Amino acid sequence: MENYIITTKNLIKKYGSKTAVDNLNLNIDKGSIYGLLGPNGAGKSTIILMILGLTEPTEGFISVADFNPIKEPLKIKRITGYLPEKVGFYEDMNAFQNLEYTGQLNGIPAKELALKIEESLKIVGLENDRKKIVKYFSKGMKQRLGIADVLIKDPQLVIFDEPTEGLDVEVANQILETIRELNKTKQITFLISSHQLNLVQRICDKVGIMSNGKLIGEGNVKELSDNTFGGNKYQIEVEIIGDIRKVSEKIKSLKDIKSVSVIENSLLIGTDEDIRQEISKAITSLDNVILTKMNMKDFSLEDIYLNYFKEV
Ligand SMILES: Nc1ncnc2c1ncn2[C@@H]1O[C@H](COP(=O)(O)OP(=O)(O)O)[C@@H](O)[C@H]1O
Ligand SMILES: [Mg+2]
Repeated sequence: MENYIITTKNLIKKYGSKTAVDNLNLNIDKGSIYGLLGPNGAGKSTIILMILGLTEPTEGFISVADFNPIKEPLKIKRITGYLPEKVGFYEDMNAFQNLEYTGQLNGIPAKELALKIEESLKIVGLENDRKKIVKYFSKGMKQRLGIADVLIKDPQLVIFDEPTEGLDVEVANQILETIRELNKTKQITFLISSHQLNLVQRICDKVGIMSNGKLIGEGNVKELSDNTFGGNKYQIEVEIIGDIRKVSEKIKSLKDIKSVSVIENSLLIGTDEDIRQEISKAITSLDNVILTKMNMKDFSLEDIYLNYFKEV
């Protein structure tokens, strides 16, 4: 079909009277890293379960690599690695044995499997822990083992539900780096759900923002910021002492100004050029006005996200 590995059309999931996923239209590009972001309860895990054929939609259509998850869940299972929110391992077995078990379940021949396990352990940096019993693993190590586990069957698509949940920032970033590396070197498509925007946005080609079962924004970080902030490249924040209206009028008369809004004694100036110098000159040229602060706002996904949620 097209270049989408996952497509949903008007997808709905209801639990009783609760609509967990509300008319979702999602297209995920082959070879991309897609971040499904939103607060707890937004419907992220429910979407993932439907994509995997682990729960049935109430209404709508899903295609995963041209397969229908309801009718052909095994076909999807063969090409997809899934790491659930809570990774389950056999705690009394060591790392190698756990991966071996996965490989056997997937029908990988023994000789090939041993090599595959070594390769996977190496990718996630657990090659020296292969004999360690999993119950002595830290949370970060378990998460790494989870990645190794999904790599055993050479997946085209990997779905991680909250992969950085409960990890400290450094470990979380290592996990994300490993994901990015695998995306680059093995062209694996990743669908990552998370409520931790700051952490996850960095590695995503595209993000979808979920709220109450709905996709309320989608795009790369730049596209989202353009939609949310009226398309201005920069927002310059200025604080002054003096007559704010006088300053506002003066700024509006400058070249390249797209918007000016007044919030108490500060101004938020939208522009496509970095004209901080001109702004500063214009303000200091006015009598009885002191410029006390000026800074360029840099939009992280967090800002975009908070902005959306203000409106919801
Ligand atoms: N098995 C279930 N039975 C009833 N309600 C559920 C079930 N699973 C999820 N929900 C509800 O559906 C909504 C979405 O949940 P979920 O998909 O787990 O969100 P997220 O993964 O974004 O935190 C929540 O309101 C949740 O309480
Ligand atoms: Mg969830």
